[in-house]
Amino acid sequence: MKVQAWEDAFKDDSTFLFGSAPNRTITELEHLFDKKWSILDVGCGDGKNAVYLAKQGFESIDAFDINENAVGKIERICTSQNLRINTQVTSVNDFVFEKQYDLVLSFGVYHFVDKAEWKAFIKKAQDNTRVGGIHIIQMFNDSIPPTSDIAPFAIGMAKEGELCELYEGWEIIQYLSYTFEEEHPDVPLHKHASNKLVARKI
Ligand SMILES: C[S@@+](CC[C@H](N)C(=O)[O-])C[C@H]1O[C@@H](n2cnc3c(N)ncnc32)[C@H](O)[C@@H]1O
Repeated sequence: MKVQAWEDAFKDDSTFLFGSAPNRTITELEHLFDKKWSILDVGCGDGKNAVYLAKQGFESIDAFDINENAVGKIERICTSQNLRINTQVTSVNDFVFEKQYDLVLSFGVYHFVDKAEWKAFIKKAQDNTRVGGIHIIQMFNDSIPPTSDIAPFAIGMAKEGELCELYEGWEIIQYLSYTFEEEHPDVPLHKHASNKLVARKI
């Protein structure tokens, strides 16, 4: 997938299209995370969450994205700021779990992945998460159609409640269904419908 505005932002270390601050869920729940936890940021983009966690002293962060420019930008940021994040250019479909994680994050990614693929990935991520570990997922649902910039790529939008069903047997710490407004250079003010799930393996 190539969204031009993303490509431009990923090549520019001074611009963070998705914001330079971490997602609010990260800062709200950070008190639950241990600095020694193994963390995986799925579809990390240019790293607003992974870079924030590295700066906070989290020691073991793996982050991957399908976009080599996004991953390259994180690597430049890590070099210039002396941070450690293990990056990989790969996709949700191809990522191979080689260890157990305590925290698996995915913000704004799975709706870009074929539904059968993201569901299979979540199952693998669950199997490779330690008991007590946490998953945080934010993704669009199909109650509002995708905007023109992402429509060709938004192939895996969730049905309302679908995400939650995958976490049967986990403690659901938070499940939200909400809409929010956004404006990009190429797309006038528009709305997205989103789900957010925070769940703990028990
Ligand atoms: C809206 S951005 C969000 C980036 C980051 N998670 C954040 O919150 O800033 C979506 C990201 O998903 C990545 N992506 C899309 N499809 C992917 C796939 N199949 N595997 C891995 N990453 C993917 C894109 O390259 C992009 O960086």
